[in-house]
Amino acid sequence: MNGSEFLIPCADRVANLPPYVFATVFRMKEEALAAGREVIDLGVGNPDGRAPANIIAALNRTLLDDSWNCHGYGTFKGLLQLREAIASWYLDRFGVTLDPDSEILPLIGSKEGLANLMRAYLNAGDTVIIPSPCYPAYFGAARLCEAEIYEPALAEDQGFVLDFDTIDAEVADRARMLIINYPNNPTGGVCDLAFYEKAVTWCRDHRVLLVSDIAYSELGFSGGENPSSVFQVDGAREVAVEFQSLSKSHNMAGWRAGFAVGGQEVIANLGRVKSNVDFSLFGGIQMAAVEALSGSQQVCADNRTLYEHRRDLMVEGYRELGWNVPSPPATLYIWARIPPAWGDDDFAFITEVFEKSGVLLSPGSGFGIHGRGYARTSLVINDARIGRVMELLKGADLTWG
Ligand SMILES: Cc1ncc(COP(=O)(O)O)c(C=O)c1O
Repeated sequence: MNGSEFLIPCADRVANLPPYVFATVFRMKEEALAAGREVIDLGVGNPDGRAPANIIAALNRTLLDDSWNCHGYGTFKGLLQLREAIASWYLDRFGVTLDPDSEILPLIGSKEGLANLMRAYLNAGDTVIIPSPCYPAYFGAARLCEAEIYEPALAEDQGFVLDFDTIDAEVADRARMLIINYPNNPTGGVCDLAFYEKAVTWCRDHRVLLVSDIAYSELGFSGGENPSSVFQVDGAREVAVEFQSLSKSHNMAGWRAGFAVGGQEVIANLGRVKSNVDFSLFGGIQMAAVEALSGSQQVCADNRTLYEHRRDLMVEGYRELGWNVPSPPATLYIWARIPPAWGDDDFAFITEVFEKSGVLLSPGSGFGIHGRGYARTSLVINDARIGRVMELLKGADLTWG
């Protein structure tokens, strides 16, 4: 391929995607690595732990299990055994009863499911309410549906919990979908059951599909309430769908295993889209997910302890530097307003931190318009590396207070 230009233009919906905000950050990292510089990446929320041995053993057993062939195509709905394991897990964890046949759909990671749900429910021009700061993949998936995005703020002084009164009345009337995510990426904010009650009522009143993303439900720290499911609220089944993931809770981010739960109709519509684009998860991973959900949940408890400990170390380190970051009640992130010297320019802040120290943070603007002026730190390195981060930051000529 001698650098010749491809002659066929891509679809408008792809051409019109805005440049990926993190592309610059990735480029910065690659250039520094190529130049042989020390880089510590705290930008991406990629767990550094590995899945527990019992989960790996379940995959290995399945690979060599001649009683069924996991190597062939699966079924669109996923294995019944996995759907039953999901139902039992929901019952144990949230006291919520689900029908494994019609109210559960295994996913190749929740990111896949969220994008396919939008395809199932958003026509071009429809409005989707995506409160921000938020998981950036929501924006891309909505734009690929040519949907219109309305972005109310998750305010720090409200604990990053959505205030429904901030949603424009006219938008509320025409919106088709609302996405909520607690515990929240990137802010670490949590909500209580009363919030889910409000959300269900609001969505019922406005005929809006309520999408609850609980990818971090198993990472609520000590001293706080154990995070809830929207389905603990009466009446949720008529308006809501919920997404769960094994990526963070069970250190399985690369395995791609998640699931959606909800009323029969929304699960069927999501399944209709999926049956046209994929063949469900690899059978070996489905059996590993069965083990993850029905075997010991120690890995979740261990991760809570681990991330809480790292949060404390990192918060203490930052505060010693003079950066007064808050201490989040959940997730594997620290979300903080950037020091005043950079005003609202989070890109300038993370760029200067990186250039002077080799420590890479995520710019808040990448998480939506209300992320501007903030930065996210992922707690994905061990204690020794956290120590090294603090050394590098202390040695850099930066103003934190
Ligand atoms: C809020 C949120 N939802 C969903 C996902 C995607 O998870 P999965 O690995 O299951 O696709 C992430 C990943 O970072 C996330 O932060």
